[in-house]
Amino acid sequence: MADRETWATRPGFVLAAIGSAVGLGNLWQFPFKTATNGGAAFVVFYLLAVALIGFPAMLAEFVLGRRTHVNAVDAFERLGHRQWRAVGALAVLTGFWILSYYNVVGGWVLRYVLGSARGAYFGDPAGYFGAVSAGPEAVLAQALFLALVVGIVSLGVEDGIETATKLMVPSILLLMVALAVWVTTLPGAGAGYDFFLSPDLGEMVANAGSIIPFAVGQAFFTLSLGMAIMVTYSSYVGGDDNLVVDGGAIVVTNTLVGVLAGLVVFPILLTIGAEITTESGGAGALFVATAAGFGSVPFGRLFGVVFFGVVLIAALSSAISLLEVTVAYANDNYDVPRTVLAPVIGVGLFVLGLPSAWDTGWLTWFDSVAYQLFLPLSVLATTIFVGWVLGADAVAELREGTGGLGAGGSAWLWTLRVVVVVAVLATLALGINELFL
Ligand code: PHE
Ligand code: NA
Repeated sequence: MADRETWATRPGFVLAAIGSAVGLGNLWQFPFKTATNGGAAFVVFYLLAVALIGFPAMLAEFVLGRRTHVNAVDAFERLGHRQWRAVGALAVLTGFWILSYYNVVGGWVLRYVLGSARGAYFGDPAGYFGAVSAGPEAVLAQALFLALVVGIVSLGVEDGIETATKLMVPSILLLMVALAVWVTTLPGAGAGYDFFLSPDLGEMVANAGSIIPFAVGQAFFTLSLGMAIMVTYSSYVGGDDNLVVDGGAIVVTNTLVGVLAGLVVFPILLTIGAEITTESGGAGALFVATAAGFGSVPFGRLFGVVFFGVVLIAALSSAISLLEVTVAYANDNYDVPRTVLAPVIGVGLFVLGLPSAWDTGWLTWFDSVAYQLFLPLSVLATTIFVGWVLGADAVAELREGTGGLGAGGSAWLWTLRVVVVVAVLATLALGINELFL
């Protein structure tokens, strides 16, 4: 095995992890779920899920990666638990599965950046989405997006991923702030903020049954957990960084982008008087309703390019992290350079993504299986391993670089052992119930 790569800098690691975390989950799902589930009341709930369940689970993945400096499958063997490699394999497969259709959505976004510049969807936003999101055009766009992802990952951890995400993450933040300032000038701004954030406890209580599993599932998805990403990225951490601080920065920035997204999207939608309901919050709505907004505000082309440009950057930096998981596994185990591995794996992803590109019904199916089955199962198994099998060793690894955790170490361990395990079990049960029963 060749010398393993590492991040050049600590911010490089944090920015790459933020690049992975910040994606469609923040730019679309978070604002929509907030708006349709009780506004500010929901945000409180979501923050609790992220802090109590997502954050501890992220630290568990960091511990696995930094302790072993190897890919997410072999990490278990390196720790002396060969039979647990299946858990790593499940996580890698989950990532591969998700990336197959994530590339398809990435392809749509690519089309929308180009389409915004030409005002291509201004006349008929719904018709444009139909043409772009399925069939041969979607396959072509999928291939283009995938080629970009493969290109960046081929360049390596430092020259490819670190360099790219160091540019991408600050751009996302800056452009989102710029968009948020611009929308204050729209006539629908006040109504938009109201809709996004006004607390509605009644709405929250009425939807409690769907909010709890969503908040937990979203905490994993939004933080890119359960796909071996954070294990892989932390395996490239060279020194003894303070993983608790790094994890905190990732979680806070990820949430901030979600809030910014809501502050941008709703003023646009309410300016054109779009009907906003739970049902209209699906993936298609990002492309239809927001696009309709750009078609009818001043400088719509310019702001459309910026907005979909941000979505494209966010989707790219997430897709990179997913591809890296599989490339890292193959690169650790076979003497084949990543410049060969990335394109070969890319072809596999392209083929698996074909049904999703051809028909959005397939995309939805792939997504539900990932969300309700693979992701919670994978997080559950990883949490049990780190919490119950590694136990005190995990706390010792987490402590490295923190200058002492005090009682925080065992608080973390027992949160993993009980709170996270119970919450994931409940989510899994609800997910299986919805998928199969
Ligand atoms: N965390 C990303 C988001 O919130 C989604 C993602 C999923 C990224 C899987 C990478 C892998 O959109
Ligand atoms: Na996210």
